[in-house]
Amino acid sequence: MSVQFEDSFHRKFYYLRLSITDVCNFRCTYCLPEGYKPAGKNSGFLTLDELHRVVTAFSHCGTSKVRITGGEPTLRRDFTDVVAMIAAQDGIKKVAMTTNGYRLEKNAQQWRDAGLTNINVSVDSLDPRMFHQITGENKFHQVMRGIDAAFDAGFEQVKVNAVLLKNLNSGELPAFLNWIKDRPIQLRFIELMQTGDMDSLFEQHHQSGVSVRNHLIANGWIMKVRDQNDGPAEVFCHPDYQGEIGLIMPYKKDFCSSCNRLRVSALGKLHMCLFGDYGVDLRDLLQDNAQEEALVARIQGELLNKKQSHFLDQGHTGMTPHLASIGG
Ligand code: 5AD
Ligand code: SF4
Repeated sequence: MSVQFEDSFHRKFYYLRLSITDVCNFRCTYCLPEGYKPAGKNSGFLTLDELHRVVTAFSHCGTSKVRITGGEPTLRRDFTDVVAMIAAQDGIKKVAMTTNGYRLEKNAQQWRDAGLTNINVSVDSLDPRMFHQITGENKFHQVMRGIDAAFDAGFEQVKVNAVLLKNLNSGELPAFLNWIKDRPIQLRFIELMQTGDMDSLFEQHHQSGVSVRNHLIANGWIMKVRDQNDGPAEVFCHPDYQGEIGLIMPYKKDFCSSCNRLRVSALGKLHMCLFGDYGVDLRDLLQDNAQEEALVARIQGELLNKKQSHFLDQGHTGMTPHLASIGG
């Protein structure tokens, strides 16, 4: 290992979120309500070779977990090759992906065989009609079969993301809890985050996770202790439930103090934060293996500029138009 990536607040970075495409085939109301539209001319998303150089540099600097995100990462034809390339790197112990689940049923086994270790699937509602309304796609049953296929393929746990949306899925907590009673699912409720493209949606539908947390505590759920590589979720378990509940509350004070991740976008920009104001281009240093030292130096220089917090609670949204542009 050359050096462990660390910032001026002594936060160490073990976890890379690597977006491999901005394209998505869903139209989630809070992300791409009008569907994916290419943002002007670009030189294409990072190639497999360029991705390889990113992951090699990060793995040499203490990264042990890589999450492949998008957009919808599985829309890339070489998705399985990306998984295999990351899994083959020394030092990378976890290869995770976040998906909308639409190709899971067909490909879960193939991805598992390529070395994928963790899957997060987005399921914002257990009611097929509400699922359709929120995501713009009538694919609820297909996604559910995908989750079954992931278990069949040998994944011991599947994480499911649900964005809390007042007046849409907010009445579904009992149904969600019932669903994970006998399934090893970690169901993660994410508070809606305000992004640049969002208009009144945030005011209309933002719901704090505190109501969920109060319900859990009142019903015998217990908070688990965090692990080094864990994300920012508060995780709760219950003796009667095989599944767990995670709560992701980005507006909570101190949310950023446990930050352990860095992001690289599909166009090769390094982002210090989901809600940062800018990304630093790495692409010119991804053209040759011999550039690794310069690449690491640029990343390290940038780490010194990483801010202490996202300041979301002060209405700051940075330049992120929607999460598909940087990898949620
Ligand atoms: N606020 C909260 N979660 C979001 N996601 C996408 N956009 C937002 C937002 N504005 C979620 C998706 C997916 C994960 C990658 O991020 O639902 O589960
Ligand atoms: Fe696609 Fe994910 Fe955005 Fe939904 S949240 S539109 S699935 S990138």
